[in-house]
Amino acid sequence: MRERFFELQRKARRILFCRRERMEQMRLRRHNCKPALFVKLLIAVLFFFGSTVRAEDGYRLWLRYDPLTQTESQVYRQRVASLVVTGDSATMSAIRAELSVGCSGLLGSAIPIVARVDRDGAVIVGTPQSSTVIAGLKWDRQLASLGPEGFRIASARVEGRAVIVIASQSEVGALYGTFHFLRLMQTQQSISHLEVTQRPRLQLRVLDHWDNLDGTIERGYAGRSLWNWSALPEVLDPRLRDYARANASIGINGSTLNNVNANSQILTTEYLRKVAAIAGVFRPYGIHVYLSARFSAPIELGGLKTADPLDPEVAEWWKKKADEIYGLIPDFGGFLVKANSEGQPGPRTYNRSHADGANMLAAAVAPHQGVVIWRAFVYDNKPDYDRAGAAYAELQPFDGKFAPNVLLQVKNGPIDFQPREPFHPLFGAMPKTQLMPEFQITQEYLGFSNHLVFLAPMWREFLDADTYSKGRGSTVAKVADGSLYHQRLTGIAGVANTGTDRNWTGHHFAQANWYAFGRLAWNPDLSSRQIASEWIAMTITHDPEPSDALTRIMVESREAVIDYMTPLGLHHLFWGGHHYGPAPWWNSEPRADWNPVYFHKADALGVGFDRTATGGNTVAQYHAPVRARFENLNSCPEEFLLWFHHVRWDHRLKSGRTLWDELALHYQHGVDWVRATRKEWAALKGLIDSERYEEVARKLSIQEQDAIVWRDACLLYFQTFSQRPLPPSVEKPAKSLDEYKAKSILNQ
Ligand code: GCU
Repeated sequence: MRERFFELQRKARRILFCRRERMEQMRLRRHNCKPALFVKLLIAVLFFFGSTVRAEDGYRLWLRYDPLTQTESQVYRQRVASLVVTGDSATMSAIRAELSVGCSGLLGSAIPIVARVDRDGAVIVGTPQSSTVIAGLKWDRQLASLGPEGFRIASARVEGRAVIVIASQSEVGALYGTFHFLRLMQTQQSISHLEVTQRPRLQLRVLDHWDNLDGTIERGYAGRSLWNWSALPEVLDPRLRDYARANASIGINGSTLNNVNANSQILTTEYLRKVAAIAGVFRPYGIHVYLSARFSAPIELGGLKTADPLDPEVAEWWKKKADEIYGLIPDFGGFLVKANSEGQPGPRTYNRSHADGANMLAAAVAPHQGVVIWRAFVYDNKPDYDRAGAAYAELQPFDGKFAPNVLLQVKNGPIDFQPREPFHPLFGAMPKTQLMPEFQITQEYLGFSNHLVFLAPMWREFLDADTYSKGRGSTVAKVADGSLYHQRLTGIAGVANTGTDRNWTGHHFAQANWYAFGRLAWNPDLSSRQIASEWIAMTITHDPEPSDALTRIMVESREAVIDYMTPLGLHHLFWGGHHYGPAPWWNSEPRADWNPVYFHKADALGVGFDRTATGGNTVAQYHAPVRARFENLNSCPEEFLLWFHHVRWDHRLKSGRTLWDELALHYQHGVDWVRATRKEWAALKGLIDSERYEEVARKLSIQEQDAIVWRDACLLYFQTFSQRPLPPSVEKPAKSLDEYKAKSILNQ
């Protein structure tokens, strides 16, 4: 049956593919290009040969710039005949280099860099200051309206020649425009009648690296830290530049270099010099460096007796430290702070508030236009409390009390980067505070770098969530981008998934999550499908058949992982410590709220965390319409059911099935999805370069094994409470519960 289904699916795709090919031919005919049959054949052979034989280790990310087909490049070459990038700054040199490598690579032969417009097809890049041609266009007012990082790309006529102009108020804006222009060709879009204006919707678009000074990365699954502290500042790894290029290509403009569980040493002069060296490499690409600051640094480095934020000596120590940092790194972004959370020091240690702590640091960096990014990931260990409500309880009362250069960085959900969480109730609850969403790009709770999970749909779901804080339509995206509350500063952060692995992110498809973060930070309205298909075209293949299959796989992947890990609102069922495999039975952590049993509360009656009025009532932290929807068992979306309710095993869901049956079917569906995906991947053999094909195939087989363990371990465990048989379509577990309990899948 399944085989038949796949056969039909393949047929349907082939029809689609042929239709696209016909459309492509028509498009080419419109451009008066009719390559002879033998040329077409040659191209097809070369294309096929190039895409299957060439080794591809993933290092080049989405900036591969491999030659387009002859027919495509012929069309583009009419518009891209020479490059005019004047100016000698480091950023203008970076633009020149990128544009030259990109265009020459894509179009299959060197595109000359020239000093002036002397032919049709000149591509002119710069600012009104760097380019007399751009100054002459008198675009200043429009460029000003796009802000310092925005850009305009337009087809124009200069000195009687048909040209393309990429312009911005700032050089970094011109760099963003350059990458946008290259992306148009990488994704095979028309560049014939261009009129594009863009500006980023969020101001701070930051990658947070949880890198330790010994080179390890907390929750990192792609090798070691990219910052080689022992070799810095003398030795600058060329990879730093490629990291900066990749970030700039998707508009990321900040990088926090060290772990939020910070080591004070990073603030010593010795390390600051190393940080300054990295900042020097990043600067031409518009990337500002930030550091995680340990709140007790004045004690550890300054020899003070206290780190009390209201102590003048402490404030003075931070002020001097900030002056020193800005002396070395004039464009330093600011401090990121994890305070009074999971054992980290902070103002609460001295009975001061989070606002006291943040504002003291903010005063130190304010003279330098720096910011303090204060994390809202705080939860006190009180008896009988709900961890999901802790951050709101502790921080919401301080709305309006933070200094103007403080941003409060809030994880997307109230617990901790689970495969699915409802949006954090602080969004929409602090109108006088600059909230900054924090995503986790690294897959701590989503199968590390072994599982293929595209995270854009998760972030989309969060950004689209309606907080109702100012009535219907008050989405999280509008809270974040400032359109709802008009805050002065806006931003978004993603915990990075990069490391020294040759392919940067461990799993080839995890690169797409880095890419998606940047694209959504630039434009939080982009669809997951668009981001996936852009990334595929730039990174994997232009071939429509595999592209369609891969787009669908990527878009579906996050729901599948929820199915085999934590369906219907379950959360935090993870093996203690490493958070890789399942351990719903886990109950040995020193804190109750680190144990899965605390989160699922399974018993003979049912399963789930009652967060309604009959339980801890954390649901009351949401605005009325959201609260009403969540707190009523019948209106609560099923994907959040067990997040908000303790539900009887025999409760009937919308499908008419009992909770128990539905739960079991979700787990089975997750496994089925991975199996089907493996088959689909196998069908792409020969259409994707062999190196990446094999590596992904290996990872998918791990993913299948893991999904089975998740399904079996969770169902066997919950069955000890439900005492119900598995529905017939759910496979019998391969091992006993005791066997699953005995060993984590990481150690098998
Ligand atoms: C999670 C993660 C920690 C991290 C913490 C944080 O709890 O497991 O490793 O330090 O989040 O975000 O601060």
